[in-house]
Amino acid sequence: MDFPKLFLHSSLLVLHFAFSSSKDTITINQTIHDGDFLISRENNFALGFFSPGSFRFRYLGIWYHKVREQTVVWVANRDDPINGSLGVLSIDQYGNLVLHGYHNQKVPIWSTNVSAEVTDTCVAQLLDTGNLILVHDGSKSTVWESFDHPTDTVLPGMKFWLDRRTGMSRFLISWRSADDPGTGNFSLQMNPKGSPQVFIYWGIKYIWRGVPWPLKSYADTFNFSSVNNQNETYMTYSISDASVIARAMLDYSGLVKNLIWHEKDGKWNEFWSVPKSPCDPYGRCGTYGICDPHFSSRRFECDCLPGYEPKSPREWNILKDASGGCVRKRLESTSLCGHGDGFVKVANVKVPDTSAAVWVSTNMSPGDCEKNCMRNCSCSAYASLDIAGKETGCLTWYGKLMDTLHNGVEEYDIYVRVDAVELAEIAQKWTGFLESKYILAIFVVSVVSAWFVIILLTYLWLKKKKKWVRNKWNKRWLDTIGTVENQVEGSMSHSEIAFFNLSTILAATNSFSPANKLGHGGFGVVYKGEEPMLVYEYMPNKSLDSFLFSETRKSTLDWRKRFDIIVGIARGILYIHQDSRLRIIHRDLKTSNILLDEEMNPKISDFGLARIFKGNQTHEKTNRIVGTFGYMSPEYVAFGKFSTKSDVFSFGIILLEIITGKRNNSFCLEDSCPSMIGKIWHLWREERAWEIVDSSLKHSCSPDEVLRCIQIGFLCVQEDVMERPTMSAIVLMLNSEISLPSPKQPAFTFRKSSIISSSSLEPKEGFCSMDEETITEAVCR
Ligand SMILES: *[C@@H]1O[C@H](CO)[C@@H](O)[C@H](O)[C@H]1NC(C)=O
Ligand SMILES: *[C@@H]1O[C@H](CO)[C@@H](O)[C@H](O)[C@H]1NC(C)=O
Ligand SMILES: *[C@@H]1O[C@H](CO)[C@@H](O)[C@H](O)[C@H]1NC(C)=O
Ligand SMILES: *[C@@H]1O[C@H](CO)[C@@H](O)[C@H](O)[C@H]1NC(C)=O
Ligand SMILES: *[C@@H]1O[C@H](CO)[C@@H](O)[C@H](O)[C@H]1NC(C)=O
Ligand SMILES: *[C@@H]1O[C@H](CO)[C@@H](O)[C@H](O)[C@H]1NC(C)=O
Ligand SMILES: *[C@@H]1O[C@H](CO)[C@@H](O)[C@H](O)[C@H]1NC(C)=O
Repeated sequence: MDFPKLFLHSSLLVLHFAFSSSKDTITINQTIHDGDFLISRENNFALGFFSPGSFRFRYLGIWYHKVREQTVVWVANRDDPINGSLGVLSIDQYGNLVLHGYHNQKVPIWSTNVSAEVTDTCVAQLLDTGNLILVHDGSKSTVWESFDHPTDTVLPGMKFWLDRRTGMSRFLISWRSADDPGTGNFSLQMNPKGSPQVFIYWGIKYIWRGVPWPLKSYADTFNFSSVNNQNETYMTYSISDASVIARAMLDYSGLVKNLIWHEKDGKWNEFWSVPKSPCDPYGRCGTYGICDPHFSSRRFECDCLPGYEPKSPREWNILKDASGGCVRKRLESTSLCGHGDGFVKVANVKVPDTSAAVWVSTNMSPGDCEKNCMRNCSCSAYASLDIAGKETGCLTWYGKLMDTLHNGVEEYDIYVRVDAVELAEIAQKWTGFLESKYILAIFVVSVVSAWFVIILLTYLWLKKKKKWVRNKWNKRWLDTIGTVENQVEGSMSHSEIAFFNLSTILAATNSFSPANKLGHGGFGVVYKGEEPMLVYEYMPNKSLDSFLFSETRKSTLDWRKRFDIIVGIARGILYIHQDSRLRIIHRDLKTSNILLDEEMNPKISDFGLARIFKGNQTHEKTNRIVGTFGYMSPEYVAFGKFSTKSDVFSFGIILLEIITGKRNNSFCLEDSCPSMIGKIWHLWREERAWEIVDSSLKHSCSPDEVLRCIQIGFLCVQEDVMERPTMSAIVLMLNSEISLPSPKQPAFTFRKSSIISSSSLEPKEGFCSMDEETITEAVCR
């Protein structure tokens, strides 16, 4: 034997006596001295002596041969270290593995306990799985294996096992501390009662419970599987990637960990561990409690299952101590079993402790499972499990429901038995919830459909009426609709003023697309400082001037039509002056602003210069003279004064233009020649007014009626404001035979080019084509 030499193996001090050829077996008459190893065939594991703390205590153990950090997975003499000596391992004459101290080879420190025939030869072998086995040479049967006596680690391929035939079980006991492999206080054991579950114990107390069997299988790094039959109950795992070094263990602090070796970091990484969440400790919320780590509406993570209430409300609510658990509500009443009781679903929970549960592994339908539980008065809950790719069946609990919680994995719905009262309350709550949802749904649906209907109707109406919208965004406009009452029924209704919101108009005009634009007209001041829009009815017959002053079209307007147009305009002006909600002075009445619909009903348009008069206001003064020459009253032109009477003046001009078919401001282009008014007045005084009447209507009219209208026209264009009749008087005059006052000489009988000049005449395209221009301060056309 060589001199011992010290060899530092990571944190582990190992004495090497000799590097005998690496071997994985020992036979009878052979010994493993402290410092020698058995190394498994693929070099995965090594068996030898180690000292986790001080060199004084020597232990026989198995560790990973390839892992740099010394990781012991099995210890033979965990509670009996070799004290102050070196260890020797051998196989004795009875075929048992025996461990001695170097100085005392008589009293074994540790040994296996197999009763072999003296003649049998035994061989111990360290397998690549980390299992040390003792095999009868003759029969080749394994008489002992280290996997049957695990320490704190379950290696891949090892059964975490309960043999129901022999009653033998494998369980883990933690180390006492990180450097003391002695029996610690924690253990991991299988509890086969009811449906098997794995528990972490602290002493004899459960501190954590695994999910009951049958377990789901996961295609994970750790491929766990479970078996439960009359012979055995076990779980095991494999590692899907053979190159991965992984283990499951119970550490000295009582945590169950799945660990994976990361070679490049040189350390074990934690893959999974329990207990972790505040709900993990066994029975955190007591009997009939339920734990939710993501509690939001509650005071803390604990609540009672449906039909139960805290046993001690004070402890529960004030001290947040749930250990007392919950008790059934209405405990004194005997209403539970067979008196209208039923089940309430508790969704997605780690099912309660199945120690008191029965697992029926037939293909039992959820309905049968419920009946099965309902039949037996001591059945407190059931769960109908359908484990994908595994079993379907029925779990029924008898007695206390313990350790129900939300943990996010392996969750199922359970159905908790409640009495009739609770059932009714829950049904009521549920109905109320549904009703509120229902009402909300109805509300939303009605609002949405109402909008649809409104939009649809608006669209259809606009389409039908062929509304068009004036497209002048960048300017300030007003929002009075240019709808003027027509004369059909006499009385005028206010409801004809309609207001559209912008979206309606946008929809109607295809967002003011140029394709929808028909033409443009004047605009100007805005009243009320708003930025509204002016919407006109589409007038297929364009404006009055396009008939009146066109040699080809004027004949379509016979006297009847012209008279109706005159009366219509008069009524329209009357309406805006007096009958509408607002007193409106148009300020720009002219033939080109009188639009004609299909039936040649006149509509006053272009309220761009209009002013609203408040209350009893009758006139106003402005420094900005805006309007159209030829239609503006003298006091307006000269002094900027305008009132309803200035509109009356414009009406008078229009009336005379309708009758004569001639423009007031283009009658004569020479200086100092009489204006149209002057010329008519001249003829009127000579009682030759008939001569100036438009020849195209002479055949269709009664001269008296025409002359009466001319007289009304003269009254309207009187220089003196007071002598002009009001619009209501004009309407009355037009519609009756009442005698008319004699007109005096009207204003502007003679054209004075120094005062009024005709502006340049540029015929415009489209519907608003006109010969005269509205004079505006802003240059907008
Ligand atoms: C073991 O040693 C004893 C005595 O030293 C010897 O009789 C026996 O044959 C040996 N057994 C083997 C298998 O070598
Ligand atoms: C180890 O031996 C020393 C003296 O030989 C003794 O005092 C000590 O108690 C022993 N320790 C154990 C754990 O047996
Ligand atoms: C060894 O096993 C026998 C029976 O198989 C038993 O009576 C005995 O107590 C065991 N000895 C030890 C140390 O476990
Ligand atoms: C184990 O339990 C005992 C008694 O309860 C205690 O004194 C000891 O400190 C515990 N050891 C560990 C490692 O928790
Ligand atoms: C249980 O063990 C008996 C006898 O060893 C065997 O016949 C039977 O098939 C086993 N049952 C299962 C489910 O493995
Ligand atoms: C998981 O384990 C089961 C049973 O041991 C085996 O049939 C299956 O092939 C394994 N799956 C993977 C991905 O290793
Ligand atoms: C109810 O079930 C329990 C547990 O399975 C059983 O012990 C008891 O006999 C059953 N009672 C009835 C009335 O079936």
